[in-house]
Amino acid sequence: MILAIGAGITLVLLLASGNARRKLSSAIPPAMRPMYADDELEGNHLERLMTWGVVLTLFFAIFLPAYWLREPIRAQDKQEGLFARDYSSGEALYAANCTECHGADARGGAALSPYGSDAWPAPNLLNIVSRYEDSRVVTDIRDHIETTLHRGRPGTPMPTWGTNYGGPMTDFQIEAITDWLLVNQEGDATEASPAVNAETGEAVSGEDLYQQNCARCHGTELQGIVGPSLIGVTDRHSDETILGILQNGISIQPGNIMPPWQEAYMYPDSRFDDDALSRIIDYLHEAQPSTLPDDALQYQTPGVGEPVEQPAGDEAEADAEADSDSDSTEV
Ligand code: HEC
Ligand code: HEC
Repeated sequence: MILAIGAGITLVLLLASGNARRKLSSAIPPAMRPMYADDELEGNHLERLMTWGVVLTLFFAIFLPAYWLREPIRAQDKQEGLFARDYSSGEALYAANCTECHGADARGGAALSPYGSDAWPAPNLLNIVSRYEDSRVVTDIRDHIETTLHRGRPGTPMPTWGTNYGGPMTDFQIEAITDWLLVNQEGDATEASPAVNAETGEAVSGEDLYQQNCARCHGTELQGIVGPSLIGVTDRHSDETILGILQNGISIQPGNIMPPWQEAYMYPDSRFDDDALSRIIDYLHEAQPSTLPDDALQYQTPGVGEPVEQPAGDEAEADAEADSDSDSTEV
């Protein structure tokens, strides 16, 4: 637009000056034509030329920057269009693949545990940024989400999605879901702490904390499932060491990860304060059998993942409104 007006003005000026000169001249050869007198050349004429020079300079000085100032806005419009397309495909992919466990609104839900015990909580995905905000382990949240999607979480119900790992989703689809999740993050992730009873405000007992949060990996009797047997753990380690393990998580064998309980694993930061963790450790002492098996003092190799037979469960179903029975047989 502006460009066209500029070109038009320049053209008119050029034509006008050409005409004026042609009128003076007709028959006389160019070299003999009368020219402006010195007075006129250095006065009027010079001034006129200079005025036009200034006008044109001003015109370009204003027009060009104005044009370039608009350029980023134009580019951004274009990019927003692309992003909107990405966003809605992320939303659709989420709805088709993730709602059964993470909930229709992505605020968390439950999965069937592959080990037959209780329902396995599937975390809220809309507070994931704030949950990992101060984490020393997860420093790049986009990378964390994409890696989790690509690989899944072996040993948990979270499936593998990336084609590289045998899943059904392309890199592009995983990026689109990640974009959608990141755009929808809710700043404040205050949820009731699982270490405090929401109704009575009382501290949850060490036993309940263990059964609700640890049993799904270590077994209701400490016998070990994806996580190692914890029978003998209080003889293998001092309470201080166990506290450290619980605070920070541990991964001795590659691929075997014990999540850090103070680093926003499933819950917003510091939801298991040292007090709650100490109650769990007290319970680990209480729950030891009276006679330890011979190998109890050695490190217990985790991850054999032998499914625990579950007597037709009542409470398991209450929690897991997830209807799929396929998950319980896989992994
Ligand atoms: C069969 C149930 C199930 C399905 C389907 C599922 N998830 Fe998960 N997801 C889980 C569980 C359970 C966990 C927690 C695993 C654990 O205990 O560490 C999890 C963990 C995650 C995490 C890590 C969260 C954190 O706090 O670190 C992300 C991200 C995630 N899921 C995204 C997705 C997305 C996106 C989809 C859809 C493409 C999806 N999940 C489908 C069950 C599921
Ligand atoms: C997602 C599964 C999972 C959950 C949930 C889990 N753990 Fe673990 N835990 C593991 C794995 C796997 C290891 C072994 C990691 C390794 O190889 O270093 C482990 C290791 C441990 C150890 C060290 C054992 C040793 O002998 O060195 C302790 C103690 C422990 N967990 C306690 C707990 C407690 C208490 C909870 C609940 C607050 C809990 N775990 C929840 C998977 C889990």
